[in-house]
Amino acid sequence: MWRRNFRTWVLACLVISLTIFNPSMSEDLRWAAKKRHMREKVRKMFYHAYDNYMTHAFPHDELKPLTKTFTDSLSELGNLKLEHLPQDYNGSALTLIESLSSLVILGNNTEFERAVLWLSENLKFDVDARINLFECNIRVLGGLVSAHILATDSGNRLVQGNYKNQLLNLAKDLGQRFLPAFDTPTGLPYAWINLKYGVLENETTETSTSGCGSLILEMGALSQLTGDPRYESAALRALRKLWSMRSSLNLLGTTLDVETGEWIEYSSGIGAGVDSFYEYLMKAHILFGREEFWRMFHAAYVAVQKYFRHGPWYHEADMRTGKATYWQLTSLQAFWPGLQVLVGDIAAANSSHREFFYVWERFGVLPERYLLDHQMLHPTEKYYPLRPELAESTFYLYQATKDPWYIEVGESIVNSLNLYTKVEGGFASIKDVTTMQWEDHQHSFFLAETCKYLYLLFDDSFLVNRNYIFTTEGHPLPVIRAWHERLPEAYITRNWTSVMVCVMIP
Ligand SMILES: *[C@@H]1O[C@H](CO)[C@@H](O)[C@H](O)[C@H]1NC(C)=O
Ligand SMILES: *[C@@H]1O[C@H](CO)[C@@H](O)[C@H](O)[C@H]1NC(C)=O
Ligand SMILES: *[C@@H]1O[C@H](CO)[C@@H](O)[C@H](O)[C@H]1NC(C)=O
Ligand SMILES: *[C@@H]1O[C@H](CO)[C@@H](O)[C@H](O)[C@H]1NC(C)=O
Ligand SMILES: *[C@@H]1O[C@H](CO)[C@@H](O)[C@H](O)[C@H]1NC(C)=O
Repeated sequence: MWRRNFRTWVLACLVISLTIFNPSMSEDLRWAAKKRHMREKVRKMFYHAYDNYMTHAFPHDELKPLTKTFTDSLSELGNLKLEHLPQDYNGSALTLIESLSSLVILGNNTEFERAVLWLSENLKFDVDARINLFECNIRVLGGLVSAHILATDSGNRLVQGNYKNQLLNLAKDLGQRFLPAFDTPTGLPYAWINLKYGVLENETTETSTSGCGSLILEMGALSQLTGDPRYESAALRALRKLWSMRSSLNLLGTTLDVETGEWIEYSSGIGAGVDSFYEYLMKAHILFGREEFWRMFHAAYVAVQKYFRHGPWYHEADMRTGKATYWQLTSLQAFWPGLQVLVGDIAAANSSHREFFYVWERFGVLPERYLLDHQMLHPTEKYYPLRPELAESTFYLYQATKDPWYIEVGESIVNSLNLYTKVEGGFASIKDVTTMQWEDHQHSFFLAETCKYLYLLFDDSFLVNRNYIFTTEGHPLPVIRAWHERLPEAYITRNWTSVMVCVMIP
């Protein structure tokens, strides 16, 4: 007893003396305590969302937190007019698949294992449902591939004994169902595919730049894991074709026709319909170590900074002339500063991130669309569907700078989410940021991304032993030597900072 007290006393004296003699150390302790406190708050958020999903919605796709029911939304994603909805589809446990990598990052191995075993026994993709290739790729294929890698990582030992590549087999089955979408004269994939019957008759030939240009991480990883090159080849062929359609200014449009390879919408920016195309060029370079991706990314990035950027803001422009078209801030654009951190362009990232955060502070959350030229909200797009992009950029900027200001930004985001979006049955989207009226929908990306990036902002211990890149849905893929063609030595390090430094724009 005495000994314990004595030790406590000695420790207390030590802390006090450090506090007195080293003010910066006491600052550090204060921040460390704040980070622990915030990490626990985020953990509670994740479980509030997850447990409500498991109770009221699982095995359906997503939770309706107000009515405590479910929606089989995998077939609705990207389908604004809700056309060709399936008659007999009971969901694919979408939110559970999206939660797998978050469970690992939060250290819940038992729940991860339980989920893996359930999925391996029950999940089937032979269903008569027309799904969006892009959405299904980033959420389902990405969720499965990432979880498979986490489950088999020798350092984790996450699934005791019972694991026999079940997630990888599911991923392979899904990947094969994607392939018919790529059977077009251009190699550009259809935006929609029926999981059971392939591309439907009279299917629309219109798709978006992000829809056919951000498949390479998941499909490339699937090829690496299975040794079957078809997935990577299909995604790569589409990406090369898309890149060949750029204008002489190295700009791309937003929508195009997969049969003719012609542009439909010539105006584009860094937000909806294009965003992850840029992200995947950069991240594919990091993951697969190919110069080709870097050359494309570098040219595309320079063109974006030249034609879209206006101070800290990004407007849209016509790919043919570079002339500004729409002066709008969209909440999806908030991912850009995070990408700029990977590039090493910290000053530009910091200045845009600040402006996005001021808009967040002004409204309480980030509105979907804000008209920069009129300084007002878009008349119809006033919603905030629990999007992760600002939290994501905040995480990257904190990793790169360790400036505690970003911890305060994260704290503010967490507090707003708890204040405005937390309901008894989970977290609800905001229909209108001026009234904070709710919408009965908890998107799966709230668990895959929003909670994950906030958690990693306050506790990055998951990243200590390995370098990861995160897919556009927040699923981690490790940067490993075996996947690189020619891997520069600098990549093989134990921490993030060095990845950032070695990919800086020369
Ligand atoms: C979906 O659920 C309904 C009601 O439980 C059931 O009748 C139907 O067979 C299920 N469909 C499929 C494809 O599992
Ligand atoms: C893991 O998740 C389950 C389900 O939410 C929960 O009951 C359990 O307490 C969690 N375990 C840990 C270690 O957090
Ligand atoms: C496809 O379109 C043609 C021409 O509009 C129409 O005659 C045909 O019934 C359509 N097929 C299906 C399956 O919708
Ligand atoms: C970010 O910008 C703010 C305001 O201009 C500045 O005070 C701060 O030092 C910058 N931080 C970094 C990491 O560049
Ligand atoms: C991170 O990597 C850099 C560059 O290789 C190195 O100087 C630094 O010590 C590393 N930090 C940790 C915590 O390993």
